[in-house]
Amino acid sequence: MAKKETRGIAVVTGATGAIGQLYAEGLAERGYTLLLSAKSREPLEELSESITRKTGQKVEVSPADLADHNALHDFCARLAADRDISLLANIAGPAVFCPFTTISSGQIDTTIAVNVSAMTHLCRSVVEGFVARGRGTIVNFASMLAFRPWAEFNVHSASKAFAVALSQSLQAQLRHKGILVQVVTPTACARQFWENAGFPFDYLPPDAVMNRDDFVAAVLRALDLKEEWVFPSLDDPVTWTQFEATRIRLVQGMMHNVPASRYR
Ligand SMILES: NC(=O)c1ccc[n+]([C@@H]2O[C@H](COP(=O)([O-])OP(=O)(O)OC[C@H]3O[C@@H](n4cnc5c(N)ncnc54)[C@H](OP(=O)(O)O)[C@@H]3O)[C@@H](O)[C@H]2O)c1
Repeated sequence: MAKKETRGIAVVTGATGAIGQLYAEGLAERGYTLLLSAKSREPLEELSESITRKTGQKVEVSPADLADHNALHDFCARLAADRDISLLANIAGPAVFCPFTTISSGQIDTTIAVNVSAMTHLCRSVVEGFVARGRGTIVNFASMLAFRPWAEFNVHSASKAFAVALSQSLQAQLRHKGILVQVVTPTACARQFWENAGFPFDYLPPDAVMNRDDFVAAVLRALDLKEEWVFPSLDDPVTWTQFEATRIRLVQGMMHNVPASRYR
C-alpha cells in the first residue's frame, strides 16, 4: 500500500492489546505515523512490522512499564520534546476483578499507577506543545464502569471515573484552544482484558459483548467526527446529555450557603 500523507505522530499506549492493535492500525490508515508503547518489546516490534507492511506508515516502538515511575517519566520527557506529536491515545488500562477485602497492595498500586498517574502525566507531557501549536488530540479510554462501579472491579472502576473527571476538566480548558480531548467508554468487547483481570469472559451475557472489530471501527469513526464523548454501543446519545444535565442540576442544587432544610 502506498504511504499516505502524514498527520503527525500518534502515540498509542496499550498498543499490543486487543483494542490497541486495531486502533493503532486505524490511525496509520488515517495518515498518522505511530509511536507505540506497551510493556513488552517483542509484540510491539511484531505489531510495528505488520502495520508498516499493511499501511506503509512509519512506526516506532517505545516499550515502557507505565507503573514504573522512572520509565513513565523517561517516556513523558520523550513526548514533551517531540513537536511532531499530534495525537495521544491513552489505551493501557489494566483491571483486577477481586473483592476489596482481598485485592493486594501491588494490584492497587499498579491499577492506580497506570490508569490514574500515567494517564495524567502523559496528558501533561503533550498538552503544552498542543497549546503552543493550537492543535492536538488526546483520547482517553475510560469504561462503562466509570459511571456504574462494579463491586469486584472496585479500584479499576474508580480509576476510570478519574479518567472521566480528568478528561472533563481538560475539555473545559482546551476545547477553545483547538484541542480535542475525547473520552471513549468501552463496554465488553475483548476477552483478554477480562481474563487478565480474573473474570471469566464467557460469564458475560453474549448480547452485552460487542464484536471487537465493530467496536474499534465505531471508535475510529467517532475520532473522524471529532466527538468529545464516545459511547460506541449507546444508541440514544440523548441519554448522555440528560445525564450531564442532571449532574449540573446536582451541583447547582448544592451551591447554597445554608444547610438543606432536613438538616436544620
Ligand atoms: N476489552 C474490554 O472489553 C474492555 C472493557 C472496558 C474497558 N476497556 C478498556 O479499554 C482499554 C483497552 O483494553 P484492551 O482490551 O485492549 O486490553 P488488553 O488486551 O488487556 O491490553 C492491555 C494493553 O495494555 C498494556 N499494559 C498493561 N499494563 C501495562 C503497564 N503496566 N505498562 C504499560 N503497558 C501496559 C499491555 O501491554 P503488555 O501486554 O506488554 O503488558 C497491552 O498492550 C483499557 O483501558 C481497558 O480498561 C476494555
